[in-house]
Order: sequence, then structure tokens, then C-alpha cells
Amino acid sequence: MILLDGLKVASERNLKLKEEIEKYAPTFGRVPSLSIILIGDNPASQSYVKGKGKACETVGIAHKLYHLNENVSEFEVVQLIEDLNDNPNVDGILLQLPIPKHLDEEKLINLISKDKDADGFHVINQGNLYQKRKTIKPATPKGVMSLLETYQINVSGMNACVVGRSNIVGFPLARLLMDAGATITVCHTKTKDLGYHTKQADLIIAAAGRPKMITKDMVKKGAIVVDVGVNRVEGKLVGDVDFDGVKDIAAYLTPVPKGVGPMTINALLENTFELYLSHFNIE
Ligand code: GUN
Repeated sequence: MILLDGLKVASERNLKLKEEIEKYAPTFGRVPSLSIILIGDNPASQSYVKGKGKACETVGIAHKLYHLNENVSEFEVVQLIEDLNDNPNVDGILLQLPIPKHLDEEKLINLISKDKDADGFHVINQGNLYQKRKTIKPATPKGVMSLLETYQINVSGMNACVVGRSNIVGFPLARLLMDAGATITVCHTKTKDLGYHTKQADLIIAAAGRPKMITKDMVKKGAIVVDVGVNRVEGKLVGDVDFDGVKDIAAYLTPVPKGVGPMTINALLENTFELYLSHFNIE
């Protein structure tokens, strides 16, 4: 089995990005900048946001965290987003999800300017993605595609099974894999015999958020298995794939942690840089 080493690939890409930023910043008079909005005290979100901030520092992206109280009013969040939209020194804005229930997630995501949408979650950016137009892509799907490309895995003609249909991962990743020539099956909570579908697949993407749900009996020998899951079980990070069982069957497998996670962060940084360039009218 070949380990799909997301940490290594992301570090290499981050280094290249750092060099690009150093190249452009003197001309533009400033480095790219990302504003991160975190609402409440969800420990997982706090840890993700910390990781994103640290990664910004590694590549030379200026970042600012707006940590709002759990009970913040929607009006205050709207004002903050509008201020950031209007600030010419802000390239990317990210609203860390999930947000507290009293706030309207869809409304707030779509209030972020589509031209500052570092996550690629804005309805217009998602629409562009689904119509195969150039756009900012959601970070995890983009990171997974970069990881496969780096290992020269050409998915064209493969049967790919995506387990999970979220707007953040499963659905957009199915679109990107389809564009790359794979035949897609999307499985979800209502799928009757999940193992039947995963067993046909040359490529399995596990993005359901259920610890160790993909077991070795569900994987075809020689398959490529990408684990997007990040589950905290008894204080440990565990993926959606039973790594110890599947490692003897799969040809390629991502670890958790140090697999897709660092690739997601790299894609977010690359998105922020892309937004920065487009703010200075560079395609
Ligand atoms: N929560 C879980 N994944 C993500 C992500 O990719 N972006 C944001 N903003 N929140 C998340």
C-alpha cells in the first residue's frame, strides 16, 4: 500500500505558494489577507481555526481572527461581514462552520462577497462549479484532487464511490471527479447496501463523518481509498476508514490525521492567494 501523504504534499505546495507570495507582494504593496470568523467555543472549530491561522503564517498570508460570542446577534455578524466585504485590504473571508442554531447559515454564507469567498461556499461560486466554469473551489474537494494529481492518479474511466453528499465535500467532490472523467456513485445515509457500492469502486472517498465505517470487506483489492473523515473518539482523531483493516487491501490510502486535513488547509491558502491576484486583476 502506498500512503497518500497529505502532510508532505501540502508542505511542498505551501512552500511554492510562499515563493509566489514573495514574488507578488512587493509589486502590490501588501501580502494576501484572510479574515476568519469563529462563533462560539466548539473545541473542534477552535482547533481548525488555529491550524488555519498557523498555516497562513507559514506561507506569509496576513490573517485576522474574529472570535464572536456564542450568543452574538445575527445583526452583529451581518455588520462584521459587510465591513470585511467593504475593506479593500481583505482578500478572503471564512465563516467557520458549524455556527450556532439561532443564526441563518445560508444567509450568512451568501452575504460574504463571492469575490472574497475563500471557502467556495457562495451559491454563485457553487453554481459556477456545477456548470464547469472557472471559480473558487471548496477547499476539501480541491485538496483531494490535488493530492490525487500529485500521485499521478488519473481518475478518468475509474468507478468512484463518494460516501457522503454534503455541500462542503461529497457533492462538489463528485462534480470534480466527474469532470476528471470518473463514473460516480454518491452514497449517503439512505443508501441500502453501502458495501455493494464501495466494493465496485476503483476509488472510494469516505466523507460521511462516521468513525471507521469503511471496513476491509467493503473495499476491492487494489482500490484507492481517500479518507476525509475527522472524528474525535475518546480524545483521538479517527477517520471514516478502518485504516488498520483497509491498509492490507488498498493500493493507496490516506492516513488520518496528516492526510486530507493538511491538503484542505493548503487549498484554502491557495484560494486566498487566487482571490488576492484577482483583486489586483491578475487571472
Ligand atoms: N467546517 C468544517 N469544514 C469546514 C470548511 O472547510 N470550511 C469552513 N468554513 N468550516 C468548516
